[in-house]
Amino acid sequence: MRIILDFGGMVTDAVGPRHGLTMKQINAMGGAFKAAHQNIAQRRRAGGLPFYALPHDQKGLKEILDTADRVVKRCEDFVVLGIGGSALGGIALFQALAHPHHNLLPKAKRKGRPRIFFADNIDPEGFSALLELVHPDKTIFNVISKSGGTAETMSQFLVVRNKLVRRLGRKKHAARIIATTDPERGYLRSIAGEEGYETLPIHPGVGGRFSVLSPVGLLPAAVAGIDIAELLAGARNADQACKKENLWKNPAAMNAVLQVLACTLKKKPISVMMPYSDALRDVADWYRQIWAESLGKRLNVNGRVVHIGPTPIKALGATDQHSQLQLYMEGPFDKVVTFLTTGKFRKTVKIPAGFNKMDGVGYLGGHTLNDLMQAEQQATEFALTQARRIHTTISLPEINPFTVGQLLFMLEVQVLYAGGLFEINPLDQPGVEAGKEFTYGMMGRKGFEDRAGLIASKRRGKRPYRIMV
Ligand code: PA5
Repeated sequence: MRIILDFGGMVTDAVGPRHGLTMKQINAMGGAFKAAHQNIAQRRRAGGLPFYALPHDQKGLKEILDTADRVVKRCEDFVVLGIGGSALGGIALFQALAHPHHNLLPKAKRKGRPRIFFADNIDPEGFSALLELVHPDKTIFNVISKSGGTAETMSQFLVVRNKLVRRLGRKKHAARIIATTDPERGYLRSIAGEEGYETLPIHPGVGGRFSVLSPVGLLPAAVAGIDIAELLAGARNADQACKKENLWKNPAAMNAVLQVLACTLKKKPISVMMPYSDALRDVADWYRQIWAESLGKRLNVNGRVVHIGPTPIKALGATDQHSQLQLYMEGPFDKVVTFLTTGKFRKTVKIPAGFNKMDGVGYLGGHTLNDLMQAEQQATEFALTQARRIHTTISLPEINPFTVGQLLFMLEVQVLYAGGLFEINPLDQPGVEAGKEFTYGMMGRKGFEDRAGLIASKRRGKRPYRIMV
């Protein structure tokens, strides 16, 4: 079972010389690819890129499966508290591989598995509504924070802990919380030790957005009943192709090269991911974060100011044909589109015949929604080609744990290659840290008073740029 990267829509033959790439231009990236490849291989060998080891971690897999088994027996609801890389991978897996309406199914149809919720924001309305929905005695809360100090997650945790302690008492509440965090460092690790929470480790060298195949994404997935062993097998399989030295045989590297050339040589700084599948919708969301946070950088690896990074956009086919496609077709030539497709949906829905005498309706009868979805995707691809808009397509033969494992792993490696080609560090996120620090200042965290002062001074004075309705 193999996923395929088709980049026929990126080349001059398809879209002409102004927007398309020539073989020569692609091959001219051979030297940069080789350097990036060697650098990644070296760092990997030296243990500097531990996310590569996640698909091989059988001990970790067993620990997660055992934990999930216990969780399933002990709760009706499973709530993830986490944000950014600590939530998006789990959400993508749940959307791709669980029943589309898992939480609305009766328990028997969920095979006894709990409902799964991801609280990845701190909106007081959304969060309190969720807490009203789940019963503290019958819920397990999985607090996920690599650093153990993210304000959003730790605030959610404090709210939940308070509620649990008031209801169950200090000792008993501990059984309702599982902390997924750094094995040694950080406030959450210390709290878990003090309170006696069960914990799962995130390897210190695995950043949030590369953690989907660690307990961060795998525990919620396993609790939902997703075959995480297959997911890891798919990732291991993708690793074989994505470490090849030949650019033309390495899909992660080739797609990175194409994306980088689209951005730099062809001046298309916007990268759209458009799955034609509801199941893959949140893969685009996950990808948006890993792409944006990894590649949007002020400095390159030599310390030069570059302000680089393509802007990722997510879209959904066919829905967004009626929303964004007009812009992609006729707006500025500033985008490269990546379609995600599946050769086989897990369900087939026939469109019954009806109103045969009406030309505009009757033709639909006898087809399936599957045919229609496929036709819409191919038609959009063709229309973009006609309009000279560059695009690639990643096709999954079907959506299952193995192919999703392949896809996510390939996209992670693609990000590493793109970082190498842009000559930036894809593994840090200084911009996110800066925002976090201003929040700490405003919320009164010790050591960040200067940030609060700075914001207050900017806010003082008249505000001439405001108009009321
Ligand atoms: O990918 C990243 O590094 C970030 O998006 C983090 O996951 C996010 O900021 C949450 O951090 P933490 O897991 O430390 O709470």
